[in-house]
Amino acid sequence: MSKTSHSDLVKANKAHTLASWTSQRDWNPNSMVRGEGVYFWDGDGKRYIDWSSQLFNVNVGHGHPHLIKTIQEQAGQVCYAYPGIATDARARLAKMLRDITPEGLGKSFFTLGGADAVENAMKIARLYTGRQKILTRYRSYHGATFGAMVAGGDPRRLANEPGVPWVVHFHGPYAYRNPVYRERSEEQGDEIIADLLEETIHYEGPEYIAALMLEGYSGSSGILQGGEVFWKRVQEICDTYGILLIADEVMSGFGRTGKWFGIDHYPSVKPDIMTLAKGLTSGYVPLGAVVVTDKIADHFEENTLWCGLTYSAHTLGCAAGIANIEVYEEERLIERAAKMGKVLAAGLEKLADSHPCLGEVRGAGLHQVIEIVKNRDTREPMGGFNQPLSEPMRKVAASLRENGVSTFVRWNWVFSAPPLVISEEQIADGLAIIDKALAQADPYCE
Ligand SMILES: Cc1ncc(COP(=O)(O)O)c(C=O)c1O
Repeated sequence: MSKTSHSDLVKANKAHTLASWTSQRDWNPNSMVRGEGVYFWDGDGKRYIDWSSQLFNVNVGHGHPHLIKTIQEQAGQVCYAYPGIATDARARLAKMLRDITPEGLGKSFFTLGGADAVENAMKIARLYTGRQKILTRYRSYHGATFGAMVAGGDPRRLANEPGVPWVVHFHGPYAYRNPVYRERSEEQGDEIIADLLEETIHYEGPEYIAALMLEGYSGSSGILQGGEVFWKRVQEICDTYGILLIADEVMSGFGRTGKWFGIDHYPSVKPDIMTLAKGLTSGYVPLGAVVVTDKIADHFEENTLWCGLTYSAHTLGCAAGIANIEVYEEERLIERAAKMGKVLAAGLEKLADSHPCLGEVRGAGLHQVIEIVKNRDTREPMGGFNQPLSEPMRKVAASLRENGVSTFVRWNWVFSAPPLVISEEQIADGLAIIDKALAQADPYCE
């Protein structure tokens, strides 16, 4: 057990640090003193299953020896070189990314995380096309820096508004709730959503639109993905109007959905720019990347790339990225995520038999969410969009935590996104705790 208790850690952290996305009084954090595989331990020695891979990023699990050793070795060689200097780690990681990203994507600009990858992707799209506007969907999340926050359609952006003038939002797929899907198949609904997107493009003027930015596989916005029909139309629309497609793979990249990238679920879709972070290093060192096609890269052979960061291509981050990709490959974690994802999804579906509050299970691979509802027929959610947690959802969250599952509960959603190294037995353990937690919400069903 650690020498510092959970309550001492919380007290000391609350004393001199500020916490994200909460009033400071309401911040009631967990603590962590050690992590191994899918588990971490708090200051009192209590063990949690990390059911969200922290922030959907610790894909290879906690304390992986290959990552730790590689980072240590890199620190002893070249710990930092300014971004104008060539290093081995930077070159090797970029080559590896070229090999695993969809065909055509060839060169990387390295950042520190997801939001600055998104900022630089938007800059690159505007510099390359000479157009200004970026189209993104409501209910997406692209990061918390000023441009990325406003580009997101998540309600957290509202506190930053009016924001930057060149972002336009449109309605995206949400088969469970979006009214266009009522009395229609998912495919028919997706087709209408794509028609409306195209209409928005006409209203905004295609000649002013640099890029359409979508999460490769929708994440914290509730895994609202749309199917083959939607994505096929997205590609056609981009081709028709000469609009670049930015696939934001910050959350969905690196095996999370059972493929290397979320967008790989739709082989006909060819992003022009991809943003990466999180699973790029499994969070061991902060790093992000903007990967662009050779065609876009060629443009900047003659034209200045007006982007820069003191810590771009940080050697520790690049070394962590290399070791991390080696682990994905050697431990076959992408295939494992697809296989374990089926086990997880089936287990979540099964919970619906005994819990009337379970409205829908959706996702891919180890990237799943459940919707908790008051009534399965009306689909009335157990907690409102952009509202503080309702009483039943607070009880669900408290039960999960008390029984040792660490994950995100948002509005009426509970996320399941454990590290890709999770075993069947560990999935069963986590599901048993979710089972208990859902029993807290059932009595509120009508
Ligand atoms: C799709 C997506 N893009 C961008 C970001 C921002 O990444 P970061 O928090 O590393 O800035 C996130 C973070 O959750 C994300 O999910």
